[in-house]
Amino acid sequence: MNNFSDLITRRRSTRKFTDELLSPDQVELILKAALKAPTSKNSRPCHFIVVEDKEILAKLSASKKHGGAFLSGCTLAVVVAADVTITDVWIEDASLASIYMQLQAEDLGLGSCWCQIRNRQREDETDSNDYIRGLLNMPYQLDILSIIGFGHKDQLRQPIKEDQLPWENVHIGTFSLLEKKEEEK
Ligand SMILES: Cc1cc2nc3c(=O)[nH]c(=O)nc-3n(C[C@H](O)[C@H](O)[C@H](O)COP(=O)(O)O)c2cc1C
Repeated sequence: MNNFSDLITRRRSTRKFTDELLSPDQVELILKAALKAPTSKNSRPCHFIVVEDKEILAKLSASKKHGGAFLSGCTLAVVVAADVTITDVWIEDASLASIYMQLQAEDLGLGSCWCQIRNRQREDETDSNDYIRGLLNMPYQLDILSIIGFGHKDQLRQPIKEDQLPWENVHIGTFSLLEKKEEEK
């Protein structure tokens, strides 16, 4: 990847992966990105559970009602959790680690997608967080924010289109609502 703006333009969520495994070097770089992400007061509350076992990946894909199925087809998943007893901003810290890993993966030409776990329920309405905590033997003080699934891309996705950016969400100086142009309505 040539530069950062190119990287963030090309990054799209990938939900289809080939069977090819990630190399140890690729996995290490992705985990290093998570560990290098900034945390409030440098409290480093995040924990990362690395899963490659296909059976566990299939179980993780059933963590929530909708939007988790792609996890059974990825070759690596990282469960992003944080110790909620040592910081009040664990969601922010865990989010940054999640997106750092996704950007590192994109830089390696790999695909990834975020699977939201916090505030999500399973098919039977039980809590997704409790299910994963039990599955992976995690202590009670860790809450799970996300699972990031990785793999070699098996789908082509177009880069983010410059002419479809929601510039109406940007407000200069004070908040202002821009009228949409007639042809955009
Ligand atoms: C906080 C957050 C939660 C997300 N949860 C899911 C999810 O549970 N399942 C999924 O398939 N994609 C999930 N995504 C991916 C979004 O659907 C995706 O980023 C969005 O549609 C924009 O598409 P793009 O990433 O290709 O640009 C999530 C993304 C974010 C940032």
